[in-house]
Amino acid sequence: MDNQLAAFRHYVLTVVQARTTNPQHDYVSALIPAMAEAGIRDPMVLADTIILLFADAVENVDRGIASVVQSLLSNPDQFAALRGVPERTGAAIEEALRIESPAQAIARVARSDTEIHGTAIKQDSTVLLILGAANRDPAQFPAPDRFDIARPRQAYLSFGKGKHSCLGAQLAKAETEAAVAAFLAHAPNVRLVDDAPQWLARPGHRWLAHLRLAL
Ligand code: HEM
Repeated sequence: MDNQLAAFRHYVLTVVQARTTNPQHDYVSALIPAMAEAGIRDPMVLADTIILLFADAVENVDRGIASVVQSLLSNPDQFAALRGVPERTGAAIEEALRIESPAQAIARVARSDTEIHGTAIKQDSTVLLILGAANRDPAQFPAPDRFDIARPRQAYLSFGKGKHSCLGAQLAKAETEAAVAAFLAHAPNVRLVDDAPQWLARPGHRWLAHLRLAL
């Protein structure tokens, strides 16, 4: 674990300990008794849960909003199709989250020996599931690289799937929809300043380094 992450984990742990002895009117203080009710009292588990929520609930959403805007502005025909038809915002967001999934990969451990499409997977080995690739599977999404807000809705994997799928998916979509709707309403002449988007060099996430706009 790199030093910055270790230092941040230590900081969050000190906040958990402080709020355990002296609860305040805040999120961490509310989480502590809620987790205790579920039998979770280990302060390190609490700290890691808070870090997960912080990373997922804040950065994925912020960067996700930026890439929705980027997808819209770099596809002017689609942007034009959305303007004046606010009911399409939800579909446009789902399509943008499909094509540039903020979370690109999740990991699982095989519980037994198995085989997927002819590849043997040994029990206890780690398998990386590439959500970004699944979202562009041509068998599921015809012309998968095309950003098309009128695409018939299909299940996509940006929020994972199954038991551990994203707890905040509905919240994330609602936040993104509110942000994009406000943006469309208040920045009628917006355009991209950079033609080529610059993505952060992170294997697990598709996050823009920055999004330069002219208003
Ligand atoms: C665009 C925004 C978001 C994206 C792309 C995203 C993506 C994901 C993905 C792919 C997973 C599955 C992880 C896995 O299966 O290993 C996940 C899990 C999770 N997400 Fe999100 N997320 C987002 C926003 C949020 C928000 C807003 C919250 C909370 C308010 C949240 C809380 C969680 C939690 C707690 C889990 C773990 C669920 C579990 O393991 O049972 N996420 N997220």
